[in-house]
Amino acid sequence: TEVMIDAVPLADGGTELFDWMARMRDHHPVWREGDGAYHVFRYVDVERVLTDHAAFSNDISRINPELAEISQGNINSMDPPGHTKLRRLVSKAFTPRTVGALAPRIASLADELLEEVTAQEFDLVDALTFPLPVIVISELLGVPASDRHLFRTWINRMLNAQSMTAREGITSESPEYADLLEQVTKDMADYLLQHCRDRRLHPRDDLISALCTAEVDGERLSEDEVVKFADIVFMAGSVTTTLLLGSSVLCLDAHPEAMAAVRRDAALIPPAIEEVLRYRAPFTTASRITAAEVELGGVTIPENRVVTPWLMSANHDERRIADPGRFDIRRDPNPHLAFSHGIHFCIGAPLARLEAKIALEALLRRFPSLEVDRSVEIGYHERGMWGPKNLPVIARPN
Ligand code: HEM
Repeated sequence: TEVMIDAVPLADGGTELFDWMARMRDHHPVWREGDGAYHVFRYVDVERVLTDHAAFSNDISRINPELAEISQGNINSMDPPGHTKLRRLVSKAFTPRTVGALAPRIASLADELLEEVTAQEFDLVDALTFPLPVIVISELLGVPASDRHLFRTWINRMLNAQSMTAREGITSESPEYADLLEQVTKDMADYLLQHCRDRRLHPRDDLISALCTAEVDGERLSEDEVVKFADIVFMAGSVTTTLLLGSSVLCLDAHPEAMAAVRRDAALIPPAIEEVLRYRAPFTTASRITAAEVELGGVTIPENRVVTPWLMSANHDERRIADPGRFDIRRDPNPHLAFSHGIHFCIGAPLARLEAKIALEALLRRFPSLEVDRSVEIGYHERGMWGPKNLPVIARPN
């Protein structure tokens, strides 16, 4: 029962990608795409890749030396001991208390954004799911939320570059990749650098100032490290949360009994969000590089090869998750890998969870009836991410 597969389907909102991942889990659990990356589909193997950080490195300069400068100080491209040190430093600035303290502000922002909706038919991405995470992150970092038209430009530039590289077959190994990344991130990095320099001189009560002053064992973050961390927080923290919120509304809309249940009992909102994270992981994959030859799922992978653990596939692996195709807001336990696992586990998970909970509560409160308008086409991010780019809804206010 060989299944011949030569291309990864698009994450276009349909079921094709899920059918493909199920076939790959059954027949090609570790699969090499042409002469490129090794894709990993089963939960146990994905978990192993994420856990064994000595064998599976995050340092992309291993396969493309041109990326050395860009990845230097970028927390998600580092291995221990550098990663450990940086992670301890940023964790000092980005604590559960910092995040918890944001709750009232997130709630009033969500209410304000929804108050501005006057039409019965509108786009929920424009109205809520895009602006809310961007404003929250700007305020957290301490940059003016009124600059958010700039952030939108930069975020879109990044997303466009991603789909462009996927379309043109440019990978992190391609020689032009480093230049491209530099072009796409330059304006945002310059902007963040200005704020960083200002906070060094005039610290305030914000994350950039905290990052500038955080100290572990007498060491502090360099200017470049602060800028790179702020940049990741912006990119990783806004788009993903937008996708999670969009997917939450789509899932609840497609499962009216779940929608009715969360409307009746708000205590079901957090487990419902966990189930959306499992069912529709905003990042479909993570990425690693083999640090030595390694055997995985019966396949020998040489050193310095790109390995792509599929978080979305692990989340749907019937070997680990009972009845994975079922959207079950009461699933317990729910060991999804949407925030990854191990030393690179998402630092922003508590914030993403808090924001999603508050935004959904506000949305359900404001609109006793809310439906996705299926007569309008919904566009999806096609590579690396899962979720709607626009979300037409029909709503009736109280
Ligand atoms: C790392 C997902 C929201 C900041 C990660 C990783 C995943 C992820 C899968 C790990 C990648 C890997 O293993 O290499 C998500 C999802 C989110 C979300 C699904 C929303 C639903 C956020 C937010 C922030 C954030 C709100 C910050 C405010 C980070 C950072 C890392 C990270 C800094 C790097 C951690 C490291 O490499 O040590 N995220 N994220 N994320 N995330 Fe998130």
